[in-house]
Amino acid sequence: MASQLFSFIGGDSGDWRVVKMNAVVGATLETVNYLQIFDEDFAVTPPDAHWVLRGTTSYGRYVERAEKEALSARQPTLNRPEAVCAALIPISKSEAWWNLAQDERRKIFEEQSKHIEFGLKYLPAIARRLHHCRDLGEPFDFLTWFEYAPADADAFEELVDFLRRSEEWRYVEREVDIRLIREQTQPI
Ligand code: HEM
Repeated sequence: MASQLFSFIGGDSGDWRVVKMNAVVGATLETVNYLQIFDEDFAVTPPDAHWVLRGTTSYGRYVERAEKEALSARQPTLNRPEAVCAALIPISKSEAWWNLAQDERRKIFEEQSKHIEFGLKYLPAIARRLHHCRDLGEPFDFLTWFEYAPADADAFEELVDFLRRSEEWRYVEREVDIRLIREQTQPI
């Protein structure tokens, strides 16, 4: 899979209206009203941008063959018309996490925390895309993006709640939870 760069721009205009924004752990981000996503690097920061977060899609680090196939069989695409709810959850993990070896991280991520096993139960209701940003010198290690229909909002809360109680999340040192509704801003 070729990696692709995405920019998430918090400001006063965009396709997604922010309905809730809060720091789960660590420093927050400046509150904004709208989010716009660009699927390539952009040369000029929009004048109303309050912040820009960038990340790239990448190859799987932890996913095993059977999991990869189970995910491919069930995961929906983004931009489904009924999926008008979204969450952008930027996350950073601690130095203790990054100092672990790959096999130790996989054990915590899946054998202990059941990230994939549990997450699979929420497919195809929830569409997702993971962006990596640690190597870009960004303020977060990951930008996680999810889209779901209003009818699946409770299920999404249940999933997030499960993950936040997991062993993996003991290594999360910064997390901001931004919830959005798809909504074109009105032209003035
Ligand atoms: C919708 C169900 C979900 C599924 C099926 C799922 C699946 C996955 C998979 C397969 C990976 C590993 C990719 C790799 O091999 O490198 C991953 C990574 C990750 N996911 Fe999820 N996930 C789900 C929900 C969530 C949620 C709700 C959050 C945040 C609250 C989240 C945060 C992350 C993070 C931060 C990583 C990167 C972990 C790391 O590399 O250290 N995921 N997810």
